[in-house]
Amino acid sequence: MANALPIPHLARTEAEPLLATIGNTPLLGLEKIAREFPDIEIFGKAEYFNPGGSVKDRAALNMVLDGERSGKLNHHRTILDATSGNTGIAYAMIGANRGYKVKLVLPGNASEERKRILKAYGAEVVFSDPNESSDGAIRRVRQVYMEDPNRYFYPDQYNNPANWKAHFEGTAAEIIHQTDGGLTHFVAAMGTSGTFTGTTRRLRRDLPEVKCYSAQPSSGFHGLEGLKHMPTAIRPGFYDDTMADGNLWIETEDAYRMVRRLAREEGLLVGISSGCNVYAATLLAREIAARGESAIIVTILCDSAEKYLSENFWDQE
Ligand SMILES: Cc1ncc(COP(=O)(O)O)c(C=O)c1O
Repeated sequence: MANALPIPHLARTEAEPLLATIGNTPLLGLEKIAREFPDIEIFGKAEYFNPGGSVKDRAALNMVLDGERSGKLNHHRTILDATSGNTGIAYAMIGANRGYKVKLVLPGNASEERKRILKAYGAEVVFSDPNESSDGAIRRVRQVYMEDPNRYFYPDQYNNPANWKAHFEGTAAEIIHQTDGGLTHFVAAMGTSGTFTGTTRRLRRDLPEVKCYSAQPSSGFHGLEGLKHMPTAIRPGFYDDTMADGNLWIETEDAYRMVRRLAREEGLLVGISSGCNVYAATLLAREIAARGESAIIVTILCDSAEKYLSENFWDQE
């Protein structure tokens, strides 16, 4: 084709490898949500800007790179792990990009959208008992691994320090920089607890005045996909329940309501755990406002709504 026009924004020198776009996500001010608390600002770290669409890109990449460095991961081995969805999507994307096979154990009732995304990346999926949720996937992946350990690289996201370290090195450092060190509170719900653990450890080191709160579903039976009710779940190996300054117990319905508010008032189409996190931030804001104090609260917008669009809660007011 003669005389093709150059495309300036795709200049060679600006090209980045896909995996280099993980991290450095925007920090968004949630002004409408915080409006009822005049002296309090609430910010959401928009993790759905990661190329795999969630906060789990950071942990998955760090665990894969750590596996390569240690020699446990090579091109004869298949990446194998249990996931409720987002870590699997991240492994599948990273595996495709770096030339590894990926096999994932997922609860059988995972949403159709998740299954299709994993298939699209070419990952193999094994389904665990839908009644046992993410704990069933953990039990099943251990069986699969033990049947042929030499065939697999099993990062074990629930027990691998490279998971929380991704947030110590990345997420927390970015939040400190993006708030000019001015944040006063951090709050995040937990699946593996990697995001909460890594971010909190870094904040404790660099800004010891910051208060760090975890959030959890209020019971073992809940609709907060990706999150764990620690008292009744298999406990992640690196989860330390003495680390948080407090824990906020969240009802599924309150997270759903906040997801709708974020879409309709802020124009942010985020997933259910993000609704949980922002609702938790408003609970904190209410307590702080009642004491007449000001605050800058940071939380995590873990993924976008695209994997949850078929759920019924969108139809409510
Ligand atoms: C949608 C969603 N939100 C939040 C989390 C929690 O992240 P972490 O495992 O770092 O605690 C997960 C974990 O899988 C998730 O899938």
